[in-house]
Amino acid sequence: MRQALWPDGIDEHAGEIERYFAGLLHMPVEVLLAVDGDAVVGFAELSIRAYAEDCVTDRVAYLEGWYVEPGHRRRGVGRALVTAAKAWARSQGCTEFASDALIDNDASAAAHQALGFVETVQLRCFRKSLEPAT
Ligand SMILES: CC(C)(COP(=O)(O)OP(=O)(O)OC[C@H]1O[C@@H](n2cnc3c(N)ncnc32)[C@H](O)[C@@H]1OP(=O)(O)O)[C@@H](O)C(=O)NCCC(=O)NCCS
Repeated sequence: MRQALWPDGIDEHAGEIERYFAGLLHMPVEVLLAVDGDAVVGFAELSIRAYAEDCVTDRVAYLEGWYVEPGHRRRGVGRALVTAAKAWARSQGCTEFASDALIDNDASAAAHQALGFVETVQLRCFRKSLEPAT
């Protein structure tokens, strides 16, 4: 499911999952799984960020990853994951919950809005490699 959600990191998922269970990752802090019988059909990865756009607190619960298997969508699984995520966030003392989506992911935007998230800003991200100083 991680590969389906983040295909760009396809070579990194196995290692990250291993480090998560070894307690070596600081993010995600918590992972929630949605199960249907014996099958895992969705997940939410959660962290607590010191800053999130338009948030005012410095411990913002953050929905880092949110995924439901295609055959299980539109049946309330995503909502159940977010409900459980909010309970986790409250248990951590957070009073704000934030998330993001790629600009062209209209389904995600609609689902976020249906669950009460309010869109704040739209961002462009940049990256630059830094060569070692000579
Ligand atoms: C986003 C995602 C997790 C939602 O999961 P889901 O199980 O389909 O969500 P639910 O069935 O619980 O729906 C939650 C709410 O969002 C709405 N919603 C879900 N998908 C929607 C869509 N494609 N278009 C419009 N509204 C949608 C539902 O109508 C529901 O609102 P309602 O209860 O008022 O009817 C799922 O579509 C998914 O995995 N998408 C691919 C990965 C992705 O884009 N993840 C988010 C990355 S930012």
